[in-house]
Amino acid sequence: MAEGLDGVVATATRLSDVDGEAGRLTIAGYAVEDLAPYASFEEVAYLLLQGRLPEPSEHVRFMQDLAGRRALSRAALAVVHEAAAAKVPPMDALRMAVPILSLGREENPVDDAMTAIASFPTIVGTYWRVLNGRGPVPVRSDLPHAAHYLHQLFGAEPSADRARALETYLNTVCDHGLNASTFAARVIVSTRSDVISGVTGAVGALKGPLHGGAPGPVLDMLKDIKSADRAEAWVRNELKVGRRIMGFGHRVYKVRDPRAAVLSKAADELSSAALENRQLYDLARSVEQTALKVLDEVKPGRNLRTNVEFFTALVLQALGLEPKSFVATFACGRIAGWCAHVIEQHAEDHLIRPQSDYVGPRGLKLKGGSA
Ligand code: ACO
Repeated sequence: MAEGLDGVVATATRLSDVDGEAGRLTIAGYAVEDLAPYASFEEVAYLLLQGRLPEPSEHVRFMQDLAGRRALSRAALAVVHEAAAAKVPPMDALRMAVPILSLGREENPVDDAMTAIASFPTIVGTYWRVLNGRGPVPVRSDLPHAAHYLHQLFGAEPSADRARALETYLNTVCDHGLNASTFAARVIVSTRSDVISGVTGAVGALKGPLHGGAPGPVLDMLKDIKSADRAEAWVRNELKVGRRIMGFGHRVYKVRDPRAAVLSKAADELSSAALENRQLYDLARSVEQTALKVLDEVKPGRNLRTNVEFFTALVLQALGLEPKSFVATFACGRIAGWCAHVIEQHAEDHLIRPQSDYVGPRGLKLKGGSA
């Protein structure tokens, strides 16, 4: 039995390849570092859904199609408001609002995928504003996807640099092999269930702290460490009391996560605009070096290297997002990969149904012979 299906190859995909030994992530043919910082989110979503980058006219049409699907229905808005009244975490609000996207619509995989991709930023942005006592801002169809998400959150049009940084982030996390949420989505639609059911399940899987939970704690760690000269003692003490260093280690990557390099560069560029962010970035680079040295010494042979979450924290906080919205923002990028995977799974049309080792008792009898 392979616990947690560790090392088991469960499907073939053309969407992304994670090479954990070499530290390479290929997204539909492109190395993440060649694609994420330069392509628009819409180009990346098109690439995942169609298997190639769009021609300029296809890019424009795709952007317009997505932009036309941003507005939430009355029912979805009602769910968002109810969730905010109950002050649930943003990932719970997203998990409650996503199923409503299917209300009043005929099932259609590509159509459902486009609506889900377009709606995620509106759901999260609207929820964040309502939760924090601010009214939602009307959707805009003249902004690209990443800029529109920032507009939904902050109610103001972002600078080109800020929109680019978020776009790089969303592209970087758009897909990552058969991670837990993607696998969950594929299992759901392998029963010939619909796209919205698949992505709803994926949101539920991503919500768990073992999947999407580290960037907030990375910021807490940096704030606690405060200055580079305190880093070594801080890291040693954490390890001594048996705690893990957030933003390090990965089930697949045994070298530095290639997404960390992309996001480190994005955080570096973004941080030059504000002294506070520059100081945090410089501290993070120094803490990274110290943590790697101490982890190698205290956990020899484990190959614990910087993962994507370490620099995710810096990019998102420099954009003004709060840690509570980090995982839901991740979902706004990963939705493109989820949708492409469920469509790929539909085409495969093969039920995913592994077996289990039974470890319970046998031969028990009911008293008196009936239930
Ligand atoms: N700090 C200290 N020790 C660690 C860390 C860490 N960040 N990560 C793993 N280890 C140690 C474990 O204590 C264990 O040590 P032991 O052999 O002495 O008992 C050994 O490395 C192996 O640990 P596992 O849990 O088996 O490793 P796994 O590959 O399953 O863990 C995980 C991967 C969960 C990401 C882990 O590295 C971790 O908890 N990291 C910190 C949290 C984090 O950054 N999460 C985000 C990951 S990126 C993502 O999911 C998108």
